[in-house]
Amino acid sequence: MSTYNIMLLPGDGIGPEITAEVCRVMDWVANAYGVTFNTDEGLIGGCAYDAEGTPLSDETLAKAKASDAILLACVGGPKWDGKTAYDKRPEAGLLRLRKDLDLFANLRPAMCFDALADASSLKRELVAGLDILFVRELAGGVYFGEPRGIEDLPGGGRVGINTQRYTDAEIIRIARVAFEMARKRGGRVHSAEKANVMEAGLLWREEVTKLHAAEYNDVKLEHILADNCAMQLVKAPKQFDVILTDNLFGDILSDAAAMLTGSLGMLPSASLGDGGPGLYEPVHGSAPDIAGQGIANPLAAILSFAMALRYSLSMGEAADKVEAAVSAALNEVRTGDIWAEGFEKVGTSGMGDAVLKQLAKAQ
Ligand code: NAD
Ligand code: IPM
Ligand code: MN
Repeated sequence: MSTYNIMLLPGDGIGPEITAEVCRVMDWVANAYGVTFNTDEGLIGGCAYDAEGTPLSDETLAKAKASDAILLACVGGPKWDGKTAYDKRPEAGLLRLRKDLDLFANLRPAMCFDALADASSLKRELVAGLDILFVRELAGGVYFGEPRGIEDLPGGGRVGINTQRYTDAEIIRIARVAFEMARKRGGRVHSAEKANVMEAGLLWREEVTKLHAAEYNDVKLEHILADNCAMQLVKAPKQFDVILTDNLFGDILSDAAAMLTGSLGMLPSASLGDGGPGLYEPVHGSAPDIAGQGIANPLAAILSFAMALRYSLSMGEAADKVEAAVSAALNEVRTGDIWAEGFEKVGTSGMGDAVLKQLAKAQ
């Protein structure tokens, strides 16, 4: 019987509420497939700072590293905004986790479930059947580049500094992921950068072009400026298959794409390195405006668990079942963020119930 060690990092805000629903789905998978999930739980983000004085302790990091998969919900909130030093901020815990495990490949699928085509802010015909995969570089770029900081200027005043920096090796390894993914999907990659104004973007374009010519000629590659990509995502999103992009542009473009799918509460992600555990997290944040009310949508977190089943635990069939159950549940009930006339409005645990009901039918 297989045993997997799962590190749970519920984090802040709605994190604990949505993690509880993930655990129910995990229990179902354990029973249905005769596997054991040994879960351990740790603190990350603002709650970790309050309890341990740091947004990610060495101990939690070590436990996460030793696990088979890390399930993180979300970090941050107004309580910690602007009060703590930059490296003590909740988000710093998440960035440390990504960097330390060298999780350079962030896969963010933006799929529009059929039932949700009317929940999007765009017209149904623009988003029905939408299936984009963002491949976002996650361990480099302006998030980590040096020099950085806020400094006093000699003549008075201050300057804030961040550095966009990519090596050829960093570009090649993330581009390889995008091309490999495209081969298993629609066979097309759009590579988004700002080669027109940034040297890091120019190098990105050159290296992606070289790798494509050398090894991935069967994949259709198009280069697109990141600002145009944002526009095209809203104008005609179904033209995209795989979007390869850097850390900052990937953050922004994937949030925009979230609304194509109906809600930020629907978008899962997987962050993968070369071996070692993957990190699975919803794209959304801690939603402080609705935290503690039991109304958050747990589906992005549940779909992130499905990605863990697929990419870290070799349980692709179980992943398919969880995704199908989510899709079916959407035909019956809705949380507030995706609610529409004619559907029963439920809270976080009600949505968990609906998914479990569908899973029970599938068994
Ligand atoms: P957010 O994603 O937390 O919320 C944006 C909007 O989407 C809010 O109206 C929120 O209620 C809604 N929303 C988000 N998730 C939802 C869900 N599951 N169900 C229903 N509605 C949902 O973004 P924000 O408000 O910009 O950021 C809040 C905090 O979260 C900040 O501290 C930010 O740094 C942090 N953050 C963390 C992560 C992460 O942990 N991966 C990601 C983004 C933002
Ligand atoms: C995300 C978040 C994070 C990011 C923050 C919380 C560090 O917005 O995962 O999309 O910017 O990468
Ligand atoms: Mn983001």
